[in-house]
Amino acid sequence: MFHVQQTYKIVSSDIVIIPVFQEKELISSEIQKKFSGLESVFCSIKKNEDFEGKYGEVAYYHTAIPKYPRVLFVGMGKREETNNEIFRRIGGIVRKKCVAFKVADASFVLFDTMCKDAAIPLLQGFLLASYAYDRYRNRTKKHTKAFKSLYFITLHAPTQEEKNKIRETLHVIEGVFIARNLVNTPANDLTPQIFAKETQRFKKMKRMKVTVIDEKKLKKLGAGAILGVGQGSKHPPLFVILEYRSKKKNAKTIGLVGKGITFDSGGIHLKPVGHIETMKMDMSGAASVFGLFHILSKEELPVNIVAVMVIAENAIGPSSIRPGDVIKSYDGQTIEVTNTDAEGRLVVADALSYLQDRYKNLDAIVDIATLTGGCIVALGYDITGLLTNSEDLHRQLQAASEKTGEKIWQLPLDKDLLKTVKGEFTDLQNFTRNVKAMAIMGGAFLHAFIKNNIKWAHLDIAGTAWAETNQEYKSRGATGCPVRLMWEFLKVYR
Ligand code: BES
Ligand code: ZN
Ligand code: ZN
Repeated sequence: MFHVQQTYKIVSSDIVIIPVFQEKELISSEIQKKFSGLESVFCSIKKNEDFEGKYGEVAYYHTAIPKYPRVLFVGMGKREETNNEIFRRIGGIVRKKCVAFKVADASFVLFDTMCKDAAIPLLQGFLLASYAYDRYRNRTKKHTKAFKSLYFITLHAPTQEEKNKIRETLHVIEGVFIARNLVNTPANDLTPQIFAKETQRFKKMKRMKVTVIDEKKLKKLGAGAILGVGQGSKHPPLFVILEYRSKKKNAKTIGLVGKGITFDSGGIHLKPVGHIETMKMDMSGAASVFGLFHILSKEELPVNIVAVMVIAENAIGPSSIRPGDVIKSYDGQTIEVTNTDAEGRLVVADALSYLQDRYKNLDAIVDIATLTGGCIVALGYDITGLLTNSEDLHRQLQAASEKTGEKIWQLPLDKDLLKTVKGEFTDLQNFTRNVKAMAIMGGAFLHAFIKNNIKWAHLDIAGTAWAETNQEYKSRGATGCPVRLMWEFLKVYR
């Protein structure tokens, strides 16, 4: 990550970025006073009829002043219509312009009367848009000029709180990038064993504990659901338990579960062309937990966390689990595997049971899983599905969602649909024909593993963990969703 600093002194930089609302007169006094010598540029932008300050519009000028040789005006749209998400997107747009103009440093002008609270979302968008996955580029490296420094120019000297927020934002986005890198890594270079090895870095961090439960131990524990899913792969399944102990006395403990299928072939219910190609992303839930722990290694939280990353490969082969096979989950329920491609709910179920069995003091559990294609049909690629038994958790996650722009929408844990996962001759089955509410059925299956009404929320990120198109601050591939949302959620959890 590059250097980010808020300052009231003008620093020399390759480009000065000046946000302009559609009510153009707002560029006037303060900025003009501060940037002496730019009178002619301000005069031109006011006269420029092609630039109205509409959202995303840009106008670019060269100047004769060495300290700020280039000026970019960026349209913010109507002032009353702006919000944090607009700022985030503008940040992304500006970042892409910086690449196009090959600049190494930029000064973003933020005057108190213009957009006081915009710095953080602008920074988030700018940083998020800086991501590129180039691990495998050898001969085709993109020769983009390295970006070095971003300055926010404000009228006042930065307060400690503002500095803290910038530092935190950098750490959060690092966490997002780590999640994105893991998700983008192909399954041949991210087997369950490699994943477990990567988590060892948390061993040397303060207040953290890492435990790997390998296949042998899973057998001892009787975690038959994850074992069944993983049995077809030559890379055996495992749990990684990450624990964080807060400094805060009497802090509550939250349980997290991340689905980590390193590749989902569908198993014997093999996925068809068009659906299988991106299935290295089926470990996005576990990757987001990993990203969260990275942030935690740099920033403190007022809650304790116990996270189970449940890692396996859903492979097809002679020892794969068969449709119709019956397995026994960690908590002793029998499950007929009616569809080998509905493997996510099986592995997550065992992790949920393990958490509740081993940690009796959990205040709430949130699982994060790329669980169903049906969630994409219901909510598309920009909205995470939420299923929960707790109105509290719904409210708290919704608040975090509004802060971060990572949208969520609640789907009902309808009583009749809860019944659909009952087995014909077993306790449960993992898929029932003719039930079309796929995302809800997935949630209903997980619900069958929630004991004593503990507060639980399930985030179905099948659509949101992966972007099919380039957007302002998302690029095709892994999005790192919902790291930012979960961080906001945990930060205020009491
Ligand atoms: N990993 C998939 C869900 C998925 C689909 C994630 C598309 C991301 C993009 C999951 O394991 C799966 O295959 N679910 C099936 C369940 C069905 C067989 C009940 C689905 O949604 O089609
Ligand atoms: Zn599947
Ligand atoms: Zn899956």
